Order: sequence, then structure tokens, then C-alpha cells
Amino acid sequence: MNDDALITAATNARKKAYAPYSGFKVGAALLDENGCIHTGQNVENAAYPNGICAETAAIAMMVQQGGTKIIKIAVSGGDGSQLCTPCGGCRQRIREFATDMTHVLICDAAGLQADLTLGALLPHSFGPENLG
Ligand code: THU
Repeated sequence: MNDDALITAATNARKKAYAPYSGFKVGAALLDENGCIHTGQNVENAAYPNGICAETAAIAMMVQQGGTKIIKIAVSGGDGSQLCTPCGGCRQRIREFATDMTHVLICDAAGLQADLTLGALLPHSFGPENLG
């Protein structure tokens, strides 16, 4: 699995975003331990806090299909002027199924902007291991 396939999947998922309030469309695609790609997009709501992020939607799809590990994840959003990094809540949701070394590919419509690790995005994180 090369990064291009994951980035393309995130870019395509972004086109399905429902973001009438912010106008900020985001797509996410993740590769699980079974070699499957799961995608998601943000889905906003008139009651604003009820909107969900693209990463959250992709994780829900993975769990529904039996995946338990995020091997790599790509996020596509923005116009290239800034990095569309996962929000704090999504960093923690990714953490549930990933490690400090898991790569998070930050993309815009033109492609890859930055290749970060989850450990860099969420240092000293709390995860399932902490609960023993
Ligand atoms: N959003 C995501 O879906 N993922 C991110 O990584 C950053 C933000 C969404 C939430 C909201 O629908 C819109 O982008 C603006 O914050």
C-alpha cells in the first residue's frame, strides 16, 4: 500500500463532506491491519456541536468492518495555506487504535503537505495501555 492510494481516498472522501455551516470540507482515509482502507468525511449539523469530523467517521467505518489498528491515516482539508491537522478530540480517537509511530499524512487538494507522527501531534498521550 503506497501513500498515494491513501491520499487519493482521503481526497475523494472530502468531496462527500456535508459542511454547509463552516464550508470547510475534510476527508480522511485510514489503512487498517487487514490492508483495508476506510474513509470518512465531516458531517455538520444545524445544532453545531453535533457535527462529526472526517477522522471520526473513518474510524467508525473501520470498527464496523472489524479493524482494530490504524496503520496509517491521511487527512485532506483546507486550501494549502495551513495544515489541516486533526483536532484534539480526533487525535485522541486515533490514539485509541494507533501508536506514537503511526504516520498521519496531512494533505490539501494538491496532495501531501506534511508527514507527521501521532506522537508528534499528541505527545505523552493516554491510551488503552494506561488502563492495564
Ligand atoms: N474538521 C474535520 O473534519 N477534521 C479535522 O481534522 C479538522 C476539522 C471539520 C470539523 C468541522 O466540520 C469543520 O472541519 C470546521 O472545523
